[in-house]
Amino acid sequence: AEYETILVEQRGRVGWITLNRPQALNALNSQLASELAAAASAFDDDEGVGAIVLTGSERAFAAGADIKEMADKSAHEMSMQNPFAGLETFSRLRTPVVAAVAGYALGGGCELAMMCDVILAADTAVFGQPEINLGVIPGLGGTQRLPRAIGVYKAAELVLTGRTMDAAEAERAGLVSRVVPAAELLDEAGRVAEVIASKSLPVVYAAKDALRAAQQTTLAEGLRLESRVFASLFALDDQKEGMAAFREKRAPEFRHR
Ligand code: HXC
Repeated sequence: AEYETILVEQRGRVGWITLNRPQALNALNSQLASELAAAASAFDDDEGVGAIVLTGSERAFAAGADIKEMADKSAHEMSMQNPFAGLETFSRLRTPVVAAVAGYALGGGCELAMMCDVILAADTAVFGQPEINLGVIPGLGGTQRLPRAIGVYKAAELVLTGRTMDAAEAERAGLVSRVVPAAELLDEAGRVAEVIASKSLPVVYAAKDALRAAQQTTLAEGLRLESRVFASLFALDDQKEGMAAFREKRAPEFRHR
């Protein structure tokens, strides 16, 4: 496929997607949202891809939804032709996604990072939900995923004031998995993705699925789901192989990789 707003590349079992609208600090417009959905879905459908890395540039992961594209739209247009429908698709992938965030991750950019499973941040990363300064509120999960990630009070302060936080504060708050020096961000993201991609693919899907449930269901329902899925994995060759390899003191050779 030919894309104009993203760069797509497969390295081994890792699919790389790089947001590429440098002139707009990777602002998310409707074309980018649909290209991102198409590229991510294609990787998701490919058994040769065990993990995806999503990144931007040194200056910006993404500075938010494209304000220039949105500014003159009516409420009717925003609800009937949702320009960000593609991002909903992106948030529902079965393949784990590692976000590699350098520079600005603001508004929709912060929300896009929160749709990923692992967030690695460069020490240059800046996170925030500044929508209040534009006369709107977050619209891609900021009022829902952010409080679940960092707690209701810290999320409220960020959403209501629009202030940003640096990588160190984001790490303390629990918004990022880990902070690394900017120069090492992509190598480290690649390493994390390769480790994930080396595991049994159906087991990785199951783990992601169970983790996702933790973000949206009750503890009792989540525990039931976890225990059902855990038991079902004993039907897979890869479970037999993983445990046999442990007993035989060797590395497992999972079938799905
Ligand atoms: C469109 C954007 C943009 C955006 C930056 N640009 N962010 N264009 N939408 N969100 C453009 C600028 O207009 C400029 O182009 C170029 O990118 C470089 O940006 P500068 O502002 O010149 O850079 P700098 O001075 O370094 O400031 C960086 C910045 C600032 C602090 C990140 O650009 C900024 O505040 N951007 C907006 C951040 C924001 O409010 N995000 C939330 C968007 S609302 P030109 O050609 O003009 O020079 C949102 C809602 C999501 O995300 C929910 C939707 C359902």
